[in-house]
Amino acid sequence: MIANRLIALFGLCIAASALPHQSPFSSISKAITDGGKEIETWALNPTGDAAVIRVKNRLQHELHLLAINAQYSVPSSYHGSANPNALYSFLDDQTFLSVSPTVEQDIWEVTTQELNYTVNPPAYPPSATSPVSIGKLSLTAAVELLVYSVQAGVLTLVTSRNGLILLNVVKRGDEWIVAGEPRSVKHDNLIYLLNLQGSRSSSQLLYQTHNGPLTSPVFGANNHIAWLSDDRKLWLSTGRDQREVPLNFDLSPKRIIFSKDGKAIYLLAPHNIQQSLFHLWTPSVSDTKPIEPVRIPSNGTIHSAIHVGITPLDHAHLIGVKSDQQRGEGKELWVISHSPHEDPTYNYENIRLTYFT
Ligand SMILES: *[C@@H]1O[C@H](CO)[C@@H](O)[C@H](O)[C@H]1NC(C)=O
Ligand SMILES: *[C@@H]1O[C@H](CO)[C@@H](O)[C@H](O)[C@H]1NC(C)=O
Repeated sequence: MIANRLIALFGLCIAASALPHQSPFSSISKAITDGGKEIETWALNPTGDAAVIRVKNRLQHELHLLAINAQYSVPSSYHGSANPNALYSFLDDQTFLSVSPTVEQDIWEVTTQELNYTVNPPAYPPSATSPVSIGKLSLTAAVELLVYSVQAGVLTLVTSRNGLILLNVVKRGDEWIVAGEPRSVKHDNLIYLLNLQGSRSSSQLLYQTHNGPLTSPVFGANNHIAWLSDDRKLWLSTGRDQREVPLNFDLSPKRIIFSKDGKAIYLLAPHNIQQSLFHLWTPSVSDTKPIEPVRIPSNGTIHSAIHVGITPLDHAHLIGVKSDQQRGEGKELWVISHSPHEDPTYNYENIRLTYFT
């Protein structure tokens, strides 16, 4: 069994550094494109109703705050200039953490900020407190991805040299602190499960590729862990076992996104000139028939997405970054919604949340 105190550690290649996580506690980073304003990196809170977005505005980098209501638009707010190498992750719905390089060489700082937002009309634009430093880290490699596990209280920093740094970030009273010393782990093309309260020897190797990198490791509900092997096959594990999911799918998925309840899996895959989400129901061990993932209609390219839940009217909502060059739209935040029990061609909606381009 994977207990709450266990987390999976993923050996990641550099190519996987910009992976979006199914977990809403992760920060997503993407390459910069020239010109105009557009989203560079973003983080979503656990409920999926607030986000911090770093926007590149020509040579400037700006932090914007957004409260999200798919039915009612809340004005976003410009918070101030942002460090171009900072990464963000939410610790809870109101608190976001930043990890950014300082002026001192190889020293990175961890800060937290509290968000004041509402999604109920009449909504005011969100605001945030000034950053409070909760710790400094000596790092020789750049941080490329943050993943925060609420259950374990562990922030994982994925660095550009295939290394993982684990930090205990927990709330004591009203304050967030970094407890204990950072731990670093280094390995390639492996998935480990590690007992964070035990010794190193309690880690368990789940999977190892032999040729290339594995990508997009993600947690789902019901103890599921999924990843893509070097040949872009989808794998599922519940911590003890591992199996390849039989797919009737001739595209090469880049990312895996679990639905919040773990019942569905979305594959983000390029096709023609765009990249879309494809839905499948999470198979059980006894399902051996090949599964054909169903495309969720959208225009342009979806770069990253996080599942935020299912509405009372049975619509699945994902929030993600999408761009559509044909319409002159750069990377913007969208809600991509569909009815998971019906043909998505007739039951979908794409709702734009930001207007930077
Ligand atoms: C949050 O912001 C609103 C609008 O500016 C303000 O009225 C309210 O007092 C703020 N709440 C807190 C807890 O600071
Ligand atoms: C995609 O673009 C076409 C043409 O502009 C439009 O008719 C269609 O509704 C769009 N589809 C989606 C999913 O936005």
